[in-house]
Amino acid sequence: MSEILKVDSLATGYGDLRVVWDVSFSVEQGEVLALLGRNGAGKSTILRAIMGLNAVHKGSIEYDGDDLGSLPAYERVSRGLGFVQEGKRLIGDMTVDENLRLGANVKRWNRRQLAPRMEWAYDMFPVLRDRRSSLAAMLSGGQQQMLGIAQALMPEPRLLLVDEPSAGLAPAIVGDVLDTLARLQETGMSIVLVEQSVDFALSLASHVVVVDLGHLVFSSRADAPGVRAAVRDAYLGRSEVEAQ
Ligand SMILES: Nc1ncnc2c1ncn2[C@@H]1O[C@H](COP(=O)(O)OP(=O)(O)O)[C@@H](O)[C@H]1O
Ligand SMILES: [Mg+2]
Repeated sequence: MSEILKVDSLATGYGDLRVVWDVSFSVEQGEVLALLGRNGAGKSTILRAIMGLNAVHKGSIEYDGDDLGSLPAYERVSRGLGFVQEGKRLIGDMTVDENLRLGANVKRWNRRQLAPRMEWAYDMFPVLRDRRSSLAAMLSGGQQQMLGIAQALMPEPRLLLVDEPSAGLAPAIVGDVLDTLARLQETGMSIVLVEQSVDFALSLASHVVVVDLGHLVFSSRADAPGVRAAVRDAYLGRSEVEAQ
């Protein structure tokens, strides 16, 4: 397998303020990597740097063998990076249909080119087809999360960054989100998954990394013996960095 993403000695933050130091990990094609850690650890900041929304202070981010440097976010989207941001980033006073079309903007498809992708999205998320003319603001929390994922999928990404998809959802709906990510994984999608729920993340991931206070504190295969306990220790800041 080859690497689709390689984050090497990354330092990043907000302007000059550094909140992430020396973080390295990579994602193989078709792999789900779980990026875990306490609130404020730097997980969203790392995803934002991968998307080009926060500047790289040091180190590099390679996608598909190319250093992304300071490439703007929309260029990254057109190269195949997708981002489902934490919380709801939909346009509430636009319909489901309009939100999906907006997601595909970067492709500059005409109506005829767009149609099959819309159908693909509605086949993937039948609940959205039923609500296609509803305003996004009128959807339930779970439906909004599905729409957020569907929107990010419109331009046919090869690597999807998903930030806390189960946050704030009722337990019954969390299973639907998990199923959706599992189905995407089956299509060969590479995914970086940030999650508060360790069980949720480990059920999908083949590799897990934990960050704390902006530093990488743990890295392991997800099926290594004792990984749950080791991840829990890493959360508490007790773990040594483990290779592989
Ligand atoms: N817009 C911002 N400006 C300055 N600091 C920020 C901003 N957003 C987050 N931070 C800080 O960066 C650190 C990492 O935050 P974040 O990446 O959101 O953590 P996580 O996603 O792991 O909960 C925290 O200390 C947080 O306060
Ligand atoms: Mg976050």
